[in-house]
Amino acid sequence: MKNLLVQLVKKAGQVLLQYFNSQKEITVSFKSKNNPVTIADKKSEEIIKNTILKKFPADKIICEETCPTIDKLQNNIRYWVIDPLDGTVNFTHKLPIFCISIGIIENNEIIEGIVYNPATEDLYYAKKGCGAFKNNKKILVSKIKNLYNSLLVTGFPYYTHKNPKRVFKLFNKFATTAQAVRRLGSAALDLCMVAEGIFEGFWEENLQIWDVAAGSLIVKEAGGKVTDYYGKENYLFGKTIVASNGKVHTQMLKIINSLI
Ligand code: IPD
Ligand code: CA
Ligand code: CA
Repeated sequence: MKNLLVQLVKKAGQVLLQYFNSQKEITVSFKSKNNPVTIADKKSEEIIKNTILKKFPADKIICEETCPTIDKLQNNIRYWVIDPLDGTVNFTHKLPIFCISIGIIENNEIIEGIVYNPATEDLYYAKKGCGAFKNNKKILVSKIKNLYNSLLVTGFPYYTHKNPKRVFKLFNKFATTAQAVRRLGSAALDLCMVAEGIFEGFWEENLQIWDVAAGSLIVKEAGGKVTDYYGKENYLFGKTIVASNGKVHTQMLKIINSLI
């Protein structure tokens, strides 16, 4: 499947770049307050979805823009989980931190994942049991053991404007406990940067399965750990996620659980 995944993200990446590099402003509409979508998201999704279904008509697609919501997976069905453009706000402001993310799930397990930033041409890929790679080179999580030496990354859900309290309570605590905290605007790339050892940890709430399917496998295959806020496995549908190098995981969970 790797060749097909690479082909899909590169094809979709070309479409995104046409809009990103154009002199014209990108027209944005809003699915809900502050939750943007563009013609580029939709076109990228269409290309990926159509190509997969043509090749594998029995497979199921879970995608952000044109698929019905799903909260449970069935065994014996192969799912393709697609975020056709992760980092839409960055994209519309011409900040080159955005990507395409595709995960494949079989028997309730993520078995392959790919994340591609067409602006930098960085391509992250993992297959269950076979390690994680950035541009074909093996990547590993960092070795830092303490939160106070850690660089962390997070994101803010679109409802932050309405309900900022909980989000900023955690942000404040981590910002004053870790070495520093960053907010880049693409959850899938945040996860990949944990996998390659730039960040020691990542946390966020209200992410969807397409934001985290590929990236969570990439973190695990790079030697890291991924759970929900409660240390459990329910991060695909549970709307909370902590991903780390494994060594600072318990320290992160302790802080989160003392504040939520
Ligand atoms: C968003 C990004 C962002 C995160 C948001 C996501 P989108 O995805 O991953 O980093 O903070 O919560 O919804 O809307 O750009 O695909
Ligand atoms: Ca997303
Ligand atoms: Ca998206």
